[in-house]
Amino acid sequence: MPLQTWGAEFTPELWDKTPHLKRFERRFFPNDYVYQPESRVFAEWVTNGGHVVAFAVGELAILGSKRVGYITRTAVAKAHRGKGMNKQLVIALVNRFKYAGVHNVMTYTVVSNVTSLNSLLGCGFKPYWPTSEWAGPGVVYLRYKLC
Ligand SMILES: CC(C)(COP(=O)(O)OP(=O)(O)OC[C@H]1O[C@@H](n2cnc3c(N)ncnc32)[C@H](O)[C@@H]1OP(=O)(O)O)[C@@H](O)C(=O)NCCC(=O)NCCS
Repeated sequence: MPLQTWGAEFTPELWDKTPHLKRFERRFFPNDYVYQPESRVFAEWVTNGGHVVAFAVGELAILGSKRVGYITRTAVAKAHRGKGMNKQLVIALVNRFKYAGVHNVMTYTVVSNVTSLNSLLGCGFKPYWPTSEWAGPGVVYLRYKLC
């Protein structure tokens, strides 16, 4: 079955009407809070025969005069891992943020998630120390400067 790559922007209300993406999110983050966007959502995803097998989701926030993109969730189904799929989706998401006028793209990963960390480093993200630990302590904060 050929893999198909998709990308779109959603309002929080429209995100509620994407059961395929929401189901995938629950499958990979069952113990995490249910992702409920508060502003413009950007998503990139891959399907195999109509089933979602990977996604990367982010949100655009306006902080003062700057637009910031936050990558909030990414996941790749086990059968498709280790082939650069996460990198491909994250880079597409960064580009989508770029065309939306974003200055910095931020994300974080737990220290033990070396696969996620290596994938993000491979996309060009760099670790940084935030002025406030917006995702709590004990995580690695990463930033991709767009301008
Ligand atoms: C994290 C995740 C999205 C990565 O997806 P992926 O498509 O396999 O990632 P990529 O292929 O783009 O990159 C994986 C990187 O980790 C590296 N890697 C794989 N196994 C590794 C290991 N055991 N130790 C260290 N690095 C490892 C790969 O070599 C690659 O790095 P490289 O490009 O420098 O070679 C996927 O494992 C996943 O869905 N995990 C569960 C959900 C999750 O943790 N999401 C991220 C937090 S929101």
